[in-house]
Amino acid sequence: MEKFIVHAGGKLSGTVKISGAKNAALPILAAALLTKEKCIIQNVPPLTDVEHMLELLEGFGAKISFDRNKEEVEIEALELVIPEEPYELARSMRASFLVAGSLLGRLGVAKLSLPGGCQIGTRPVDLHLKGFRVMGVKDKMEYGVVDLVAKRLKGGIVYLDFPSVGATENIMMAAVLAKGKTKIENAAAEPEIIDLANFLRGCGAKISGDGTGTIYIEGVEGLHGCSHQVIPDRIEAGTFMVGAAMTDGDVVLEGVEEEHLKPVIAKLLECNVKTEKVANGLRVYRKGKLLPMQLKTMPYPGFPTDMQAQFMSLMSITKGSSLVTETMFENRFLHAGEMQRMGADIRIESRNAFVEGCDHITGSQVVATDLRGGAALILLALAAQGETEIGEIHHIERGYYHIEEKLKKLGVDIEKIQM
Ligand code: EPZ
Repeated sequence: MEKFIVHAGGKLSGTVKISGAKNAALPILAAALLTKEKCIIQNVPPLTDVEHMLELLEGFGAKISFDRNKEEVEIEALELVIPEEPYELARSMRASFLVAGSLLGRLGVAKLSLPGGCQIGTRPVDLHLKGFRVMGVKDKMEYGVVDLVAKRLKGGIVYLDFPSVGATENIMMAAVLAKGKTKIENAAAEPEIIDLANFLRGCGAKISGDGTGTIYIEGVEGLHGCSHQVIPDRIEAGTFMVGAAMTDGDVVLEGVEEEHLKPVIAKLLECNVKTEKVANGLRVYRKGKLLPMQLKTMPYPGFPTDMQAQFMSLMSITKGSSLVTETMFENRFLHAGEMQRMGADIRIESRNAFVEGCDHITGSQVVATDLRGGAALILLALAAQGETEIGEIHHIERGYYHIEEKLKKLGVDIEKIQM
């Protein structure tokens, strides 16, 4: 089992290259099944979630080649097959359900393991299915497998009860080859939605309104291949920004899209953390002592839930009372228990976490509970006294490529060890 060993002390300083966005790459890789022609997707980080998605696509017959040094994937889905036994892999990675939309769009049929719940919540797919049903899909769920069939996908009007990112992406992928027009109301507006729409338009799809709450798609006869560069990862970038804030450091993030970071930049500004555009990227540094704050996670352009744990680390060392409210997932405070082992003063009441900042955070043995919670523990370890040992780091490596190497380059004393 691998662990991170972190010795606190250093201020993060220097330049870090931000990788391509996991949550943009995953739906785009799935969407490549919609065309027989070759797609070239660049800026794809070799994360475990990406490797699992590529393995899944190969299981449906796609030819994959992944140049991990160039971070470039070639996908050619000439012939697709629906395996009799759905991939068990789909059970472990929720994003695998994103192939449902592209299989329906291409073949009119899909058979997938239902994504189970995960640490942060039950993760239902009812909104995905609601959209598919509007488009004429019949679904049957039994023994943990969902069978989806549509004689001919037809466009329709889908109202999403919640602006679900995955449901918006899945319905977009099913709609691009459907007969007629589709309108998605109360759609998610995250940058990753726009990136998927850009990829699909690059393949000849007719989509507009992406990035707003209403997306319009007009079905076309077929899609051709294309080349696409994945947007930078705003959550990886935000994670390093918080690290700079917590260690009173001074870091330049290379290759970020400032627009995507606006909600994070706004909250950091509230607690005396400044950002400025510089020649090679976005500089982030602290100006004055950290100030406590209140934050509430919301759909984009609200504050991202994927940055909640990292900000809880920041608030844990910020003198004063802070409040973190998690509205997106029902169980996304698991990291608080591990932070308390390091001395953080956090009280959870339903969707609210009351954080009393303190200056006595000490190293400890902790475990990553989920992807972002694990990253938040690394951040807290940077500001702790002494050594912190973080277990279950496979959670972290699902979404952060070579995080220990990037932190070392910024002056952090961190080692990955085998236990
Ligand atoms: C995507 O998950 C991201 N994952 C998540 O990032 C992110 O936290 C989330 O969007 C919100 O921004 C990927 O893009 C691979 P949702 P997704 O559907 O699509 C409820 C990370 O750390 N819901 O927007 O699964 C759901 O239960 C990960 O990188 C339904 O009720 O999120 C949740 O409470 C974690 N029914 C809320 O909506 C549905 O059919 C948001 O879920 C679908 C969702």
